[in-house]
Amino acid sequence: MSSVDLYEYQARDVFESYGVPVLAGLIADTPEEAKAAAEKIGGTVVVKAQVKTGGRGKAGGVKVVHNADDAYAAAEQILGLDINGHTVKRVMIAAGARIAQEFYFSVLLDRANRSYLSLCSVEGGVEIEVLAVERPEALAKIEVNPLTGIDLAKATEIATAAGFSAELVEKVAPVFVKLYDVYKGEDATLVEVNPLVITEDGDIVALDGKVSIDENADFRHPSHAELEDADAADPLEAKAKANGLNYVKLDGEVGVIGNGAGLVMSTLDVVAYAGENHGNVKPANFLDIGGGASAAVMAAGLDVILNDPQVKSVFVNVFGGITACDAVAHGIVGALAELGDSANKPLVVRLDGNKVEEGRAILAEANHPLVTLAASMDEGADKAAELANAAK
Ligand SMILES: Nc1ncnc2c1ncn2[C@@H]1O[C@H](COP(=O)(O)OP(=O)(O)OP(=O)(O)O)[C@@H](O)[C@H]1O
Ligand SMILES: [Mg+2]
Repeated sequence: MSSVDLYEYQARDVFESYGVPVLAGLIADTPEEAKAAAEKIGGTVVVKAQVKTGGRGKAGGVKVVHNADDAYAAAEQILGLDINGHTVKRVMIAAGARIAQEFYFSVLLDRANRSYLSLCSVEGGVEIEVLAVERPEALAKIEVNPLTGIDLAKATEIATAAGFSAELVEKVAPVFVKLYDVYKGEDATLVEVNPLVITEDGDIVALDGKVSIDENADFRHPSHAELEDADAADPLEAKAKANGLNYVKLDGEVGVIGNGAGLVMSTLDVVAYAGENHGNVKPANFLDIGGGASAAVMAAGLDVILNDPQVKSVFVNVFGGITACDAVAHGIVGALAELGDSANKPLVVRLDGNKVEEGRAILAEANHPLVTLAASMDEGADKAAELANAAK
């Protein structure tokens, strides 16, 4: 299954149509258009790079300005900027919010468990990835039953688990319900808001939005065709997407492959923790290969990760379920054979669950020089971090 990301301004429009609170936003392709948009909105505005990659703020792609001339200047700086290999061709001029506090909320598809997962934190903003690896307990991970979804009770559970005060829970929970309406109504595989904020006036507003939609559901949404823009994605992310993989590039050295969004999230936590003992190496990506980890899917996943020049080692962490460990082990052996010389970084493999003994036996038998078997998730993460640090 393959999905396509929307630009922030497209996500903003979708949010608005579902009643998620957003601020005015106009797009501009030139500094002149940016100036006109800023005049129209009036007051303080934010000029924001429209690229399908994260970390725009940190790369200088988000600028707060207080008048239209400064909006012109900011757009001049941002248009043409390279952000993680994406050239900025368009900016959004958004009304400026007076932010009191920033939060994080997302809901995504958890393929392996055939369910949804909501991630939420009362501490959102541009440092969320750091938070996720350094203080994972501050990011609530709540399973969502696809049959019942996120109603007000579930939204309350999520906000409470994420550490919102009772007063804030009451304000954000209805917005979580609307964001879930977007997820469901658009056949999305991801709806993420970072930051969701409370303003100094006490209003909840989504200031940034990421929406990925399932291309296979396009027939139900003729309007999706015009949202698609295949060449805009990060090259590795595009490759992953073309192979139906759920991949997000992060800024570390240990490649991570797992099945199930929840398992992959915990793997990131454990790798980051292990990295503290090994030169502070960090996870290089989020990659969920889903429940049906065939040799082809495993090869596609390994191919994406091994092509990331930052990656120094790979941790494959699989819990055998519907696809049992023996099939996964065959997948890994097959993938390594298929990749040949391009498989050139050490792999640590931890298998558990259905047919674990058979899976381990297959890997032991194959005795591939790059593969190390780990008995547990902690041991595997530690070994992978050690190998990455040694290769730095
Ligand atoms: N409309 C706005 N008004 C005031 N501040 C804003 C607005 N939009 C963004 N910001 C501030 O800029 C920060 C970064 O913005 P945003 O989340 O849109 O970009 P980013 O997180 O850097 O990009 P990405 O989400 O692609 O990684 C926000 O955390 C917020 O503090
Ligand atoms: Mg953001």
